Amino acid sequence: MHDRPYTLLSCCVSIDGYIGNAASRLLLSNDADFDRVDAVRASCDAILVGAETVRIDNPRLLVRSGSRRAERAARGLPESPIKVTVTRRADLDARADFFNVGDAEKIVYCATSRAADARRRLGPVATVVDAGDTVEMRTLSTDLAARGVDRLMVEGGGTVHTQFLTEDIVDELQLTVAPVFVGDSAAPRFVGDGVFPWNAARRAELADVRQLGDVVLLRYALSARFRER
Ligand SMILES: NC(=O)c1ccc[n+]([C@@H]2O[C@H](COP(=O)([O-])OP(=O)(O)OC[C@H]3O[C@@H](n4cnc5c(N)ncnc54)[C@H](OP(=O)(O)O)[C@@H]3O)[C@@H](O)[C@H]2O)c1
Repeated sequence: MHDRPYTLLSCCVSIDGYIGNAASRLLLSNDADFDRVDAVRASCDAILVGAETVRIDNPRLLVRSGSRRAERAARGLPESPIKVTVTRRADLDARADFFNVGDAEKIVYCATSRAADARRRLGPVATVVDAGDTVEMRTLSTDLAARGVDRLMVEGGGTVHTQFLTEDIVDELQLTVAPVFVGDSAAPRFVGDGVFPWNAARRAELADVRQLGDVVLLRYALSARFRER
């Protein structure tokens, strides 16, 4: 029995380590990889993205494949996983696709200072959780586990990745490298500054490498739980 979900971080990076353009969405991956990501989504109970990704990408975060949705429904699950986001400022548009597309539950973890405002504006479209003065991903993960989330997919952006990785609560990293350069230091990177558990003295374990057309998928086992699955 674990106090947090099995956590899989999924991301597509450019050759030079960026995950988007400076202020707009950039589709880095290819159709084969989008389909692979769809299968991973279908295997999870919840998908988490940061508020900036909700604002910039306006993602739907649904399982796209009809057969995968039907398989989930046959197992008594909602067709798509729960959608989760995290915010300090609560500057989120209740009309965004994140909130309005699909029947899945939506959960917003919000810092205490803006939780009342978030509840007033987003309450009709999401469950708003007051996550304390400082939102910590470990605490958030424990809360998700208490809500029945056994398998969590983290899908960006870099600010959120950094916290999950530096808090050492990621079990598996799926990193796709796309054959493009972004070349703009104002663009978001895969991670920001931080003290990561993996370094020259403690290398991450590369578990699998797969080519999907012009992208390559690198799978890293970041905890012992990777082997339990
Ligand atoms: N290539 C890919 O696979 C991929 C996937 C996803 C996203 N992206 C890209 O990533 C970029 C966004 O990345 P990003 O790093 O700028 O932002 P992000 O990680 O998506 O979101 C950051 C925001 O999340 C909230 N947040 C993060 N940690 C928090 C905490 N501990 N407590 C409270 N709130 C917290 C804050 O929201 P508030 O500002 O509301 O307080 C913060 O500004 C976009 O360009 C998007 O296109 C790429």
